[in-house]
Amino acid sequence: MSVELKEIGLTDIEKILKFSDKWIGTNYFTAKELEEIIKLGKTAQVNTSFKAESIDGKLAGIRLSLAPGEWVNSMRGLSTDLWNVDSSKVGYFKSLFISDEFQKQGIGKALSNLSIENLKKAGAKAIICHSWLESPSNSSQRYLLSMGFSAVKTHKEFWSEVDYHCIKCGPSKCLCTAVEMIKYI
Ligand SMILES: CC(C)(COP(=O)(O)OP(=O)(O)OC[C@H]1O[C@@H](n2cnc3c(N)ncnc32)[C@H](O)[C@@H]1OP(=O)(O)O)[C@@H](O)C(=O)NCCC(=O)NCCS
Repeated sequence: MSVELKEIGLTDIEKILKFSDKWIGTNYFTAKELEEIIKLGKTAQVNTSFKAESIDGKLAGIRLSLAPGEWVNSMRGLSTDLWNVDSSKVGYFKSLFISDEFQKQGIGKALSNLSIENLKKAGAKAIICHSWLESPSNSSQRYLLSMGFSAVKTHKEFWSEVDYHCIKCGPSKCLCTAVEMIKYI
């Protein structure tokens, strides 16, 4: 793997926005949202968000995660009653994207494993994520199942409230489905 894995910081915002516009969809994140996400990924001790960068400084992938805590109160589509742990002890896998040329080389898994280690240090007993059911070749579900996640609940048109240009649905409303998934750690 010809990339370096590093923690994500606030100075990465501009680079990540260009990357997410291309690989997730235009305007999926705003700079303000991204700043908030990066901050929620950190505790006083650890950072749970990581990036993969090629030797020439090109972004190959991002793993944005949220540490256990306040995110649970503001997130849509959570079935806390179906989780076997207290919701205050749950981290969140916000977004994982690897650019085409770097996929299937173990980078997604490696970034996620770094994040899991730090989520454990931050007191997480489980991780929740919303898997993108319509992802190309169903890569999202396949990746998450291979990481030991299991499905909790399906949320139809989960991203329809986000005003962005989904790479699957185009400029109209995003109709993609999210599968809420959990991994106990
Ligand atoms: C899903 C994604 C993040 C995986 O990252 P990656 O670096 O390519 O994946 P890895 O090489 O670390 O492989 C991890 C597992 O995912 C599976 N996988 C990865 N990409 C896949 C693909 N395109 N098709 C099928 N399975 C895939 C592999 O089976 C692998 O499991 P294994 O090691 O047990 O065989 C990446 O393909 C991607 O960005 N996809 C588009 C966006 C997306 O779906 N993001 C949501 C993630 S929840």
